[in-house]
Amino acid sequence: MTSQIHTGQPIIDPPEDGHFRNDDAASGSTNPPSPTTLSLHLTINGETHALDLEPRVTLLDALRDRLALTGTKKGCDQGQCGACTVHVDGERVLACLTLAAQVEGREITTIEGLVDEDGTLHTVQAAFLEQDAFQCGYCTPGQIMSAVACIREGHAGSDEEIREYMAGNLCRCGAYPHIVAAVRQAARELRA
Ligand code: FES
Ligand code: FES
Repeated sequence: MTSQIHTGQPIIDPPEDGHFRNDDAASGSTNPPSPTTLSLHLTINGETHALDLEPRVTLLDALRDRLALTGTKKGCDQGQCGACTVHVDGERVLACLTLAAQVEGREITTIEGLVDEDGTLHTVQAAFLEQDAFQCGYCTPGQIMSAVACIREGHAGSDEEIREYMAGNLCRCGAYPHIVAAVRQAARELRA
């Protein structure tokens, strides 16, 4: 279940009973049960990873610190900048506001998972390069993940719409005109 916020990125609600599962026997983990650690299996870019994490660990920290998937960036760490945007079951979410335990069993996609197996860039990644849609590049993975979802949602019909539905992704370098041009180009190419 997800809750929509004004930036377009939903926040995943906790389980209805308010309790996250810690079933070591079912997971096959050899670690002793711990009152403070959850044994989780996270499916990221099509690959399943077994992790023992404290319930408070965010998806962002699990990706970056435990799995070395550092393409997803930490900007504000409080839901304000969009640098940490990833997809969960195809929807864009803010990884800094999502607990790793909330997304067990879901399909997580990060910027590393957008590239084809043969190394071909995703249409949106290629458009960002062609339109020179970045300067320092720190916001770029989040911008691209958000743009992929924005186009898939059907919210890239005009520059105004792109600006509105990409508003949750901030760029300190002010590359906005080029970012909008890249999303416009990618949307056109993906429709063709
Ligand atoms: S790091 Fe998540 S929104 Fe800024
Ligand atoms: S390119 Fe530097 S923050 Fe966006």
